[in-house]
Amino acid sequence: MKLKDKIAIVTGAGGGIGRAAALLFAREGASIAVVDVKDETARETASLIKEAGGRVTALVADVSSSDDVKRMIEATVATLGVPTVLFNNAGLSPSFPKPALVNITEESFDRIIAVNLRGVWLGMKHAIPHMIKAGGGSIVNTASIAALVACNSAEYAASKAGVLALTRVAAQEYGPFNIRVNAICPGATATPMARRFAAANPAGSAASDPKRLERMGVLGRFAVPDEMAKAALFLASDDASYATGATFVIDGGWTIMALEGGAHYTPEP
Ligand SMILES: NC(=O)c1ccc[n+]([C@@H]2O[C@H](COP(=O)([O-])OP(=O)(O)OC[C@H]3O[C@@H](n4cnc5c(N)ncnc54)[C@H](O)[C@@H]3O)[C@@H](O)[C@H]2O)c1
Repeated sequence: MKLKDKIAIVTGAGGGIGRAAALLFAREGASIAVVDVKDETARETASLIKEAGGRVTALVADVSSSDDVKRMIEATVATLGVPTVLFNNAGLSPSFPKPALVNITEESFDRIIAVNLRGVWLGMKHAIPHMIKAGGGSIVNTASIAALVACNSAEYAASKAGVLALTRVAAQEYGPFNIRVNAICPGATATPMARRFAAANPAGSAASDPKRLERMGVLGRFAVPDEMAKAALFLASDDASYATGATFVIDGGWTIMALEGGAHYTPEP
């Protein structure tokens, strides 16, 4: 078991990638604090873990709120023990179809940055002092391929690029305390977020057609949440003991493609 006797916090664990990661981390021996802004879905994930024999607590927190994040850490310490694994996964996508940069509202810009970027910083801010006392830890932050290429709205892309910058600085500052900090950049993953994205884009556009979206990567399909969970598990576990400050792009080859359709040209061997 890769996380035997560890205590792990997974944010955004009420659905999608976060739920898959919470279940996988639990199967790998960790006690899990399932955190989500939605009480009901957090409890659902916690029930699934409990039914499978895992040790778990469900916590409601909005990761953009410092008070909430502080409470999330304190409640984890009180109920499970000191967390030495943190998967900062909670994230918010902008309303779809995505507006052009000049049409983004200030409200939307601030909210996306607050959840996706400030939330990741707050998680680290409040967890790291505990990890230092415990002698080390491992943090995985969720960015996106939108941090690397222009494929989503400006405020979402900026929030995710910020996550990569936070990850590098945190890794540099806390490496000496045996805390590793890495980021994953998921590509299109079949979660409620991805379904909302495809459903809301203008009919006829590449982004409205799940089949066309799938073909944009060289593997020709969306990821399933478990594939992202496994990448997070690798980075969270001692298997990645020499990885820190790294960006793990796991996108079925989306970002290696220069042009849509290029994936379908297969040269003769
Ligand atoms: N699905 C994709 O294709 C994709 C691609 C790249 C990156 N990502 C990123 O992966 C992460 C997970 O995405 P997903 O696809 O599983 O999304 P999702 O919408 O399916 O799940 C996100 C979860 O986070 C929770 N959440 C939202 N705001 C929150 C807040 N303020 N505080 C606490 N919890 C909150 C939601 O309730 C939900 O349970 C996000 O950071 C997202 O930006 C997803």
